[in-house]
Amino acid sequence: MIHKTAQTIKRAKKVVAFTGAGISVESGIPDFRGPSGLWEKYDPMEYATIEAFHANPKKVWNMHKEMAVLLEKSRPSPAHRALARLEEMGNLSSVITQNIDYLHQEAGSKRVIEFHGTSKDLVCILCGQYYDRRMVKLNVLPPQCSCSGVLKPNFVFFGEPIPWGAHLEAKEEAASCEVMLVVGTSAVVSPACDLPIIAKQHGAIIVEVNIEETQLTRFISDWILKGSASDILSRLVGELSAPGQIGIERS
Ligand code: APR
Repeated sequence: MIHKTAQTIKRAKKVVAFTGAGISVESGIPDFRGPSGLWEKYDPMEYATIEAFHANPKKVWNMHKEMAVLLEKSRPSPAHRALARLEEMGNLSSVITQNIDYLHQEAGSKRVIEFHGTSKDLVCILCGQYYDRRMVKLNVLPPQCSCSGVLKPNFVFFGEPIPWGAHLEAKEEAASCEVMLVVGTSAVVSPACDLPIIAKQHGAIIVEVNIEETQLTRFISDWILKGSASDILSRLVGELSAPGQIGIERS
């Protein structure tokens, strides 16, 4: 199946990757809904909705301070690097990610669409001013803006809209790709989970990479490569860069 996927990618004019938390598990960041997922420890209704943030920003920040330590320690996994290599080889147009960990960019991916925003900066909920996350001390929570407004991580909480630019660009990429690699997502959160559907409706081949089947497997995916993202994607790059394969081939 990896060989078949490599052949399919080689023949395609445009390939897009859509990633979720599963691709960063091997970087030491837990996913959300797995057995040791973040939502096992923290109730998303108490920690991940914009209402919860407004009601008690200090409580929500305590969780994010803990996550910030993990994010700072994390490094790109072989899966992140494999996608960056596919882009470099001319076999991948963009990565649409639900992740806020910036690991695709750290792995060298040039075109990354951050569908759920980023942990790299903070935004004041009062005046809208942005702050580089590294410039803000988290010794007093919640951190405050010079206008005395509360600073929020610049990623999407449940109940908040998707950043316009990312939403439009992601939909365009999904609607114009011939193959979509769906890596490490349970595809239960909307509107992100609509992207593989949009791609499918525009005739794309949907290839899932996941340690287990998801609802996409049943209804949308053409096939699933079951296994860890790092193992599967590294072997895929190996297939595509094997002598005589030379990555790009356009029919
Ligand atoms: N390799 C491949 N897949 C993996 C691996 C791995 N090493 N580890 C876990 N997975 C898979 C799981 O089987 C699961 O299907 O990754 C998926 C992770 O799913 P979720 O935890 O639901 O994460 P995600 O789909 O990214 O969540 C979407 O929900 O909580 C919100 O905003 C948050 O962006 C997030 C969104």
